[in-house]
Amino acid sequence: MNILFAASEVAPFIKTGGLADVAGSLPPALARAGHDVHVILPLYEGIGHDWRSQMTFLKHFNVTLAWRSAYCGVFELVRDGVTYWFVDNEGYFKRDTLYGHYDDCERFAFFSRAVLEAAGQLNWPVDVIHCNDWQTALIPVYLLEDRYRIPQLSHAKTVFTIHNIEYQGRFGKQVMDDVLGLDWSYYNDGMLACYEDINLMRGAIIAADYITTVSPTYAQQLRDPYYAHGMEGILGENSHKMQGILNGIDTVLYDPATMPGLAQNFTPRAPVTGKRACKAALQKAVGLTPDPKVPVIACVSRLAGHKGFHLVTEVLDRIMALDVQVVVLGTGEQEYEQAFLDAQSRYPGRFSAQIMYSAALSNVIYAGADLFLMPSVSEPCGLSQMIAMRFGTVPVVRETGGLRDSVPPYNKYTGEGRGFSFANVDSGDLLHVLTQAVELYHTDTKAWRKLQKAGMTADFTWTNSAKLYLDIYQQLLG
Ligand code: GLC
Repeated sequence: MNILFAASEVAPFIKTGGLADVAGSLPPALARAGHDVHVILPLYEGIGHDWRSQMTFLKHFNVTLAWRSAYCGVFELVRDGVTYWFVDNEGYFKRDTLYGHYDDCERFAFFSRAVLEAAGQLNWPVDVIHCNDWQTALIPVYLLEDRYRIPQLSHAKTVFTIHNIEYQGRFGKQVMDDVLGLDWSYYNDGMLACYEDINLMRGAIIAADYITTVSPTYAQQLRDPYYAHGMEGILGENSHKMQGILNGIDTVLYDPATMPGLAQNFTPRAPVTGKRACKAALQKAVGLTPDPKVPVIACVSRLAGHKGFHLVTEVLDRIMALDVQVVVLGTGEQEYEQAFLDAQSRYPGRFSAQIMYSAALSNVIYAGADLFLMPSVSEPCGLSQMIAMRFGTVPVVRETGGLRDSVPPYNKYTGEGRGFSFANVDSGDLLHVLTQAVELYHTDTKAWRKLQKAGMTADFTWTNSAKLYLDIYQQLLG
């Protein structure tokens, strides 16, 4: 099969969130299964010289967007069995950040059109176009017409994956004529119209041949207005073509045996001395008092409301009364940044607030911490709980979305499970399970090691999930 995978961010080239990790690790898994996979993404300013020097220029052409005819260059880089196409237009992509610009609709409408145009211009007949989130949601919509204009797309099928329903791509309806260049029938028949606005994700939900989301539990939750943010109706109507597939992680990259930058590498068979060294290094790196015995609780996350940090701040002093150390790494809403900085000054040597984004420090934390706290209100999949488990750090999560699907809770009678979990969005419940976790850590080393080992040896590879995607592609192609 010829699979064209379109995403607005792809690791290791450029990343702001979990979408980039998925776009960086699912396509190589599809390629390993014997398919020809091309990944296409914008050539942002932030994609560094090291990568650019490995690219070759393929071609340039113009892309039509309403009244515009915009320059589009395509650069190619082959890596790990996958061909990467980078879409160049400096006016749209030479910016200091990926998203959040006044013309985001235009930028990603351009990108979506460019994806379709590239298949034709570079003469690559496509079987499946796999689109991800609102930035590529126009692809299935444009394809409804472009497949008659571009022969390489004539039989292409589309899959649209929802990584997070909270970002839908909503814009004022003036973009119809000025940017999208689509006939008003696309609005009037309800494909793009949503509460008087244009909603790109809604368009993809209707126009795509198949919809997936990133965990089975989230797929269920998206029928519920609490989680679906206005999309529950349209998702309900389209549930016959929808499925939840749990993400994998890049287990070669996130391997405690080989990860560079750790105080000591370790394996699931003999994690103890390695983790001890990594814990000491973590405590030193983030200003926690060196102490091998005290449990270190870690959070690595965007500090956004739906990540559930209000549950942590509500009971912060009671958590600290458990005799633990806490390290938080991430940036986000001012309210949480401030609360964690305050905690750092009130609990010197015991609470560390690292208000920044750092991949290197996150690895030091995954490897060195004892517990990984993820109290998300909603979590489509979540990758960091899986990474933490790979590194023998036991997760404490709320039972939602992919957290529920990847962290079976500890059963004190059988010793089974991979972590601790609580059901309700309730800080008392969080405190209760965290207390149980800390108690087990102190009192039952054997049970603790078993939990660590279950997480470290769990299968978080893409092998199974890639197969589920391939089944969908195959089914669509008949
Ligand atoms: C989004 C979701 C996260 C998921 C990731 C990759 O960032 O919020 O839960 O793991 O996409 O699918």
